[in-house]
Amino acid sequence: MKKHFGWTLIAPGKMEATHCLNRALRLAEKGEGHTRPNPPVGAVIVKAGKILGEGYHKKAGTNHAETAAIADAKKKGNDIRGASIYVTLEPCSKPGRVGACTDAISAAGISHVYYAVSDPNPTNRGRAKRVLVQHGITCDCLDRWGQAQRGRDIPVASQQELSRLVHRAQRLIAPFRKHVTTGLPYVTVKLAMSLDGRICDTTGNAKWISSAESRRGTGFMRTYVDAIMVGAETVRADNPSLLSHGKRNDDLIRVVVSRSGKLPKNAQLFTDGAPNLTLVYRDAKTALVDLGKRGCLHVLCEGGLALARSLADENLVDAWTLVTAPIVIGNRPIGEALRFKLESDGISDPKSGDRIGEYVHFTLARKTPIVL
Ligand SMILES: NC(=O)c1ccc[n+]([C@@H]2O[C@H](COP(=O)([O-])OP(=O)(O)OC[C@H]3O[C@@H](n4cnc5c(N)ncnc54)[C@H](OP(=O)(O)O)[C@@H]3O)[C@@H](O)[C@H]2O)c1
Repeated sequence: MKKHFGWTLIAPGKMEATHCLNRALRLAEKGEGHTRPNPPVGAVIVKAGKILGEGYHKKAGTNHAETAAIADAKKKGNDIRGASIYVTLEPCSKPGRVGACTDAISAAGISHVYYAVSDPNPTNRGRAKRVLVQHGITCDCLDRWGQAQRGRDIPVASQQELSRLVHRAQRLIAPFRKHVTTGLPYVTVKLAMSLDGRICDTTGNAKWISSAESRRGTGFMRTYVDAIMVGAETVRADNPSLLSHGKRNDDLIRVVVSRSGKLPKNAQLFTDGAPNLTLVYRDAKTALVDLGKRGCLHVLCEGGLALARSLADENLVDAWTLVTAPIVIGNRPIGEALRFKLESDGISDPKSGDRIGEYVHFTLARKTPIVL
């Protein structure tokens, strides 16, 4: 891809679908954690190898990705009649808070619509294509590449690359899919653990299990979820702020579950003056049902173990993010004998762990040999 007289040029023909879908996905990802109850969506308008407009859905009640891309093209003075639009999700075909995107696409004179995945809402799925075809616009769902290919030539160089992008689009709307079909948010449980499966030391201290770098990585997760949930013991032991590190996310809701209701009144969550809402529930399932009603698509549970276990027991967990730290905590003799820590003992970088199938193999060798 190169910039030429202000145009973004892409190799015409075969590269178009993968390039535009990749760009649309990157745009859609900017909306994650802010669009509830709507899904994050991105769109790119292209004609003769030139990107004429692009946009994404920023917040419920504002422009959908397609209308944002059309507005962007108009603002730039680009003629989009006869252009193609690539969207990460099937366009909406019924007017909601804003008009139907199929109408906006038709009014703009766009000729081809390519979308990555069908709307998981059963009342909308497949409807966009019927509406668009009635307006004389061709429409292909890219996750049915083979099917579309039979009728028309999709501008794609590699089916494998397209499948990878479609899979990314499916993962992106997994929380929306769960919410729209069950009313519950998608739940990811994140836990950092030692190699011997401990989440804190014998005094309850968990802070040193993950490295600063790993904490930054998982802290980033807080920027693309709607709510973050912890058990009461984590609040009592760690007094966390639960705010995203780095980039702010004022839309993030903080949630504590406590059967006893015994929570320190001066905990950061209640006193730090952040604009983020903090909610307390007596029961984890009730919390998820209520968060679903509030439109939350994705809840990140950051422990502790008791809460994670109770969510798993009720079959409420959709994904686990397990950060394995190259340390052994151990509170039994064998553990004590092996006790070591990455920074202090010069153990090799955890990133050097080889992935073998689903296993991560760490080599916990000292960097300097022991001299007797
Ligand atoms: N390594 C990590 O990733 C990580 C992450 C977070 C925390 N931690 C560490 O883990 C320790 C805390 O973990 P933990 O397992 O002891 O406790 P926890 O899960 O943080 O909290 C347990 C408490 O949460 C409430 N609770 C749990 N499940 C509930 C449910 N289904 N409905 C309503 N309330 C529920 C109860 O509160 P009440 O007692 O008030 O009724 C329960 O006693 C701390 O030392 C913390 O530092 C480690």
